[in-house]
Amino acid sequence: MCGIIGVTGEADAIPLLLGALHQLEYRGYDSAGVAMVVDGSVWRARAAGGTNSVAALAELTAGAPTGHAAAIGHTRWATHGSPTAENAHPHLDCTGRLAIIHNGIIENHAVLRVELEAAGHTITSGTDTEVMVHLVEAEVAGGATLEEATRTMLRRVRGAFSIAVISADEPDTIVAARRSTPLVLGLHDGMALLASDIPALIEHTRQVYALADDELAVLTPGALRVVTLAGEPVEPQQLKITYDLQAAQRGGYEDFMSKEMHEQPQAVADTLLDRRGGHGELVLDEMRLRPGELRDIDKVFIVACGSSYHAAMVAKYAIEHWVKLPVEVDIASEFRYRDPVLNSRTLCVGVSQSGETLDTSEALREAKRLGAKVLTVTNVVDSSMARAADGVLYTRAGPEIGVASTKCHLAQIVALEVLGLYLAQLLGTQPPAAIDEILDAMEVLPSLVTEALGRAGDVDDVAAKLTDARDFFFLGRHVGYPVALEGALKLKEIAYLRAEGYPAGELKHGPIALIEPGAVVVGVATRNPLWEKMLSNIAEVRSRGATVVLLADDGDEESAAEADHVLWVPPTFPLISPVVDVVPMQQLAYRLARLHGHDPDRPRNLAKTVTVE
Ligand code: G6P
Repeated sequence: MCGIIGVTGEADAIPLLLGALHQLEYRGYDSAGVAMVVDGSVWRARAAGGTNSVAALAELTAGAPTGHAAAIGHTRWATHGSPTAENAHPHLDCTGRLAIIHNGIIENHAVLRVELEAAGHTITSGTDTEVMVHLVEAEVAGGATLEEATRTMLRRVRGAFSIAVISADEPDTIVAARRSTPLVLGLHDGMALLASDIPALIEHTRQVYALADDELAVLTPGALRVVTLAGEPVEPQQLKITYDLQAAQRGGYEDFMSKEMHEQPQAVADTLLDRRGGHGELVLDEMRLRPGELRDIDKVFIVACGSSYHAAMVAKYAIEHWVKLPVEVDIASEFRYRDPVLNSRTLCVGVSQSGETLDTSEALREAKRLGAKVLTVTNVVDSSMARAADGVLYTRAGPEIGVASTKCHLAQIVALEVLGLYLAQLLGTQPPAAIDEILDAMEVLPSLVTEALGRAGDVDDVAAKLTDARDFFFLGRHVGYPVALEGALKLKEIAYLRAEGYPAGELKHGPIALIEPGAVVVGVATRNPLWEKMLSNIAEVRSRGATVVLLADDGDEESAAEADHVLWVPPTFPLISPVVDVVPMQQLAYRLARLHGHDPDRPRNLAKTVTVE
């Protein structure tokens, strides 16, 4: 997720931009850039170099011109196009007189690019962003003002964005807009500012305004005006800023884990964006493996660690059901040392939030050595695993800071299931209507996740009753099983409580011996194909005195009757239900961690990216 800053009316804009970009560093970024209007033209500097980019940019801009005109700055988290200086924002039009910065994804960038190139534009980057500045250029060439041109451009783009545009011909003006991704505006002492989030503004002003979807702001020194895409004036909503800079970096949340849990609807939506082509065909941008190669596949391996491994387990159920191919899911650290049987007809998928986990990258290396086709599912563009694989499928969750993975986990399930549907389409194992129906249901997931997140208070009430418990068993069947494993892992990771995750049908082969009064059983009893059997397993633990907490579909009184405490979740298709069902599991672990006085962002002994064996 990129960081955005803009200012007009400040005499020395570059230090302000760099300071704000520094405040946005917590979002994570791989390149950075600034542009401003100086003496009737646009001056620009950009740097790539991971977390050194802002420092590199500071060197590049030392001695940059000063002036009161419009200036914009950006930290980029790559989605389309590698994290190079050429792909860093701001992007310029053909004349070099317009510059744009953007956070988000433009879904129809490919068609627009073709159209613009046919009209004679030269697009120099691999980003989805650059098409926007060329569309503005075309309008300005026809006599439109920057505001009019931007409004027209916004009617042509699909997707999620916050943007800011400047023009050498209107030196004091910044035009900004948003759809689905955040953008805030500020006023202070002859200046007008904008930013992707509050931390970048808080040092300069507390007079901060929100911009709503499909609204456009025109900033001039000391003034701002907001209009709809149709040009109707709108009164901007002023925000009450009651927190300090550090809290602002966490979006006002107590910690990054809460912030990132609340970003899950966006992470899921962004991972799904752009995947459906005009004729219902699925489009996986960086797949690189040719359809012919994939049609030959007769077996799939998925290798991963931690929460990524649990996402892979969910995908096994989905891919086997939809594609009718055998899928083996493996812990990466075991896979590479056990003579796995792979050949050129095997697809080996590595799943890793960071794309750097040593066990997973080595497992992929081994798979490649054995001749398999290798695909990486990762959240980090151009990470080691993305580079080493034959193809990549990016989750678009934005940088994840909390050590215990949350939003990336949900995005991984979604990405892997999209892969499953892609294979089903390619191999013709599901009729188009069935694929469409599942994709339609997946597109509703962000709102279901939002609903689940809104029920945190219910989870808190249950957690408060479990503060004395020390032994937790998480049970599930079918796709509820990986959800149970993830619930147990989260509780171990951040609340330091003993938690076993088990397939409920296996209970009778051992763990049931541990069930006695005082034990807590958390069961996933949403309605998947094994729901009835799941309830029988729950009856077994209840009769042995365990306290039972059940996840149940809204209104499912039959499940509720088997539980001491119910966590309701909005229902959806069983194979995609883990995306919703994991949410109360995360919340339960989070609340218990807090109740036991632990900081969920800093779990003891754990690291975000594990690059050792
Ligand atoms: C660490 C993190 C987990 C994560 C796992 C795999 O153990 O604490 O949250 O699931 O690594 O990381 P990866 O980056 O490969 O997904």
